[in-house]
Amino acid sequence: MVSYKELGLVNTREMFAKAIKGGYAIPAFNFNNMEQLQAIIKAAAETKSPVILQVSKGARNYANQTLLRYMAQGAVEYAKELGWEKPQIVLHLDHGDSFELCKSCVDFGFSSVMIDASHLPYEENIALTKKVVDYAHQYDVTVEAELGVLAGVEDEVSSAVSHYTKPEEVVDFATRTGCDSLAISIGTSHGAYKFTPEQCTRDPKTGKLVPPPLAFDVLDAIMEQLPGFPIVLHGSSSVPQEYVDMINSLGGKLPDAVGIPEEQLRKASESAVCKINIDSDSRLAFTAAVRKVLAEKPGEFDPRKYCGVARDFMEDLYKHKIIDVLGSNGKA
Ligand code: G3H
Ligand code: 13P
Ligand code: ZN
Repeated sequence: MVSYKELGLVNTREMFAKAIKGGYAIPAFNFNNMEQLQAIIKAAAETKSPVILQVSKGARNYANQTLLRYMAQGAVEYAKELGWEKPQIVLHLDHGDSFELCKSCVDFGFSSVMIDASHLPYEENIALTKKVVDYAHQYDVTVEAELGVLAGVEDEVSSAVSHYTKPEEVVDFATRTGCDSLAISIGTSHGAYKFTPEQCTRDPKTGKLVPPPLAFDVLDAIMEQLPGFPIVLHGSSSVPQEYVDMINSLGGKLPDAVGIPEEQLRKASESAVCKINIDSDSRLAFTAAVRKVLAEKPGEFDPRKYCGVARDFMEDLYKHKIIDVLGSNGKA
């Protein structure tokens, strides 16, 4: 058993309370490799932003859970080296899908876990979430739960039934589970194709898709039910068209990739939404950079040369999110 406190990490409790009061959101960036982690920590240290390092099940499989844990531990020391005296860094399990996985992360030094039982029937979601909360809280590890299903693009199109979180369920769910934060569904979704062309309009000048707005009425109704309760938005990449265009012009194929407009995330950040998850945008930045370097220098075969540029692209992206979208700069 390793306590995250010994590793210099923090849980989300105080961080979220401050974010809600201050009208900003904490960035939750996924990481799978060293360059991503370096870029996240540099961006957070230089902007003095609290930050959540997220590890998905896929990341654990890709990079090895032990290595990722030690990388996060190293990140705290790296942040200090960069002059951030008291780094506010959370190590969070993203989309935990079982009690055993959440428990192993709690035991292994994570300061926060998500139990995502949103696909289960309501009562089963409550039972599993509560089991994780009861375990995690013994060690002061905070727990994110999810209610409502984030639409896969196909789901939203093929089903007339809304997958949005039902505001009338949130009080019962939060009370009975004891969760510390709640991921909700208001129209965001994972990946680089968040809406089909049929769900969007098209800008006649650029030919680019213009997505429909998020369901802020659902968010408002949830906040009315649970005043001051920390809300989380998954699937919040904006899919910057500059990266999409760069990738497509350099041999890639991402037709009609579209994300959540940043003004909408800015607006959400000012509310009780205090954690915003971003992964796909950094994948796009990385890929655009690698394609650019390899296209411009076909003889390059030192991975440091293209991964280094990818790291710079990601660092710029993270700083932009922190300063211009979430407003978390200067809060740590
Ligand atoms: O929620 C999904 C995150 O973007 C993580 O994705 O499961 O491919 O690592 P992944
Ligand atoms: P994106 O795919 O929009 O980056 O969402 C990431 C996420 O929600 C991770 O849990
Ligand atoms: Zn997610």
